[in-house]
Amino acid sequence: MNTEIIKINELNMDAAALRRLIYAGNIIKKGGLVVFPTETVYGIGADAFNKEASSKIYAAKGRPSDNPLIVHIARLSSLDRLCVFKDDVQRKKALRLAEKFWPGPLTLILPKCKDLPKETSGGLDTVAVRFPSNKIARKLIELGGGFIAAPSANLSGRPSPTDASHCIEDMNGRVDLIIESGDAEIGLESTIVDLSVEASCVLRPGVITAAEIFEALSMTEGKKGEDSEELSAAEHPKAPGMKYRHYAPKGRLVIYSGMEDRVISGINKAVSEVKNKKKTAVITAKESAACYAADIVKIAGARHDGEEIAHNLFRILRELDDEGAEVIFSEAFYNNKRSEAIMNRLIKAAGGEIIEL
Ligand code: TXA
Ligand code: MG
Repeated sequence: MNTEIIKINELNMDAAALRRLIYAGNIIKKGGLVVFPTETVYGIGADAFNKEASSKIYAAKGRPSDNPLIVHIARLSSLDRLCVFKDDVQRKKALRLAEKFWPGPLTLILPKCKDLPKETSGGLDTVAVRFPSNKIARKLIELGGGFIAAPSANLSGRPSPTDASHCIEDMNGRVDLIIESGDAEIGLESTIVDLSVEASCVLRPGVITAAEIFEALSMTEGKKGEDSEELSAAEHPKAPGMKYRHYAPKGRLVIYSGMEDRVISGINKAVSEVKNKKKTAVITAKESAACYAADIVKIAGARHDGEEIAHNLFRILRELDDEGAEVIFSEAFYNNKRSEAIMNRLIKAAGGEIIEL
C-alpha cells in the first residue's frame, strides 16, 4: 500500500490545513486508515461503525483481534450513539468525569450500543470512549463522520508513537495517510476508567491520576491514589490488553529503585559487570547523568519534572532499540506528578524486573 504523508501544524490551522483535513476525513469515511496526532500519542484511525475498516486496523498493527479499540469522539452528545447507560448512576458518573476531564486524556469504558460492530469493541459488550483535546484530532473526527476507532499507531509490542517519525517507522506502507504534526504534548496514553462495573476502577493509569478520578466521583474514602489503582487492577485481571506484553524494548530492561546514591552505585556495578560483553545503556534523571559510564546514557528529564520524563520516555525506548542497546538499566522515577503513569509504563517495559535498594 502506498502511504501518503502530509504535515499539519496544530497551532496554525489555516485554510490549507482545513483542506488537508477534509481530504483525510474523506479517507476515513471511505473506510481507509489515517494516522493522526492526539495530545497523548499518535493514533491509527478508522470509521468506528465500519467493521471492515476496524478490522484493517488490527492487520496494520499486527494486533490480536480480541484487543478492543478506543472510539474517539469530538462532541459530548456523540456518547449517546455509542453507549446505552445501564442506569442513571452510571450516566451521572460518566457525565461528571466528562465534564471535568474532556476534552482530554481520559477514556471511559461503558456498555456499548448494539449497532457498534464487534470488530471495533474486540467482541466485548462494552466500548471505550475518548474525547481528545488535540485540535487536529477533533477536526478529523468531525470531518470523518464523528466516530474514529483508534489504537496507538505503533506495531503491536512496540512503544506508542510520540512523534510522526515513529509512526512512519512502524506504519509506512500499512495505512493510507499519516498526518505529521510534531511531538505529542503528553507522551503517555490516556487514563482508562471502567464505568461498566459497579465499583468503578482505573484500568490504565495516565496523567489524570486515580486519585483525581475518585475525587471527581466522590469515592475517595478507602480508595486513594496508587493503592486504589493497584487494587482495581488486581480485581479486574480480565481487562483486555493486559494479557499482552507491552512496550518491550529489544534489550533487557531492569529498573533500580531506592535512595539516589544506592541506585547510582547499583547501576554502575551492574554496568561494569556486563560492559565488556554487551552494549549497555542507562536511563537516568538529568541530575545523575554524569555518574554513569555505560555505552549509552539517556536523560529522561529533571528528577522531579514528571511532564518532561513522560514526554521523553517512549522516544528513549525507541532510540535504545535503534542504537542496539542490549542491556538497559533505568532509574525509577517516583516523586513527580506523573510518576503513576510513568512507572506503570516503565515496569511493563521491564517485564516487571525492578530491584529495590
Ligand atoms: O491515549 C490513548 O488512549 C491513545 C490515543 C491514540 O487515543 N490510544 C490508545 O489505544 O492507547 P490502545 O489501543 O493502544 O490502548 C487502548 C487500551 C487497550 O489496552 C485495550 O485493551 C483497552 O484500552 N480497551 C479498549 N476497549 C476496552 C474495553 N471495552 N474494556 C476494557 N479495556 C478496553
Ligand atoms: Mg497501544
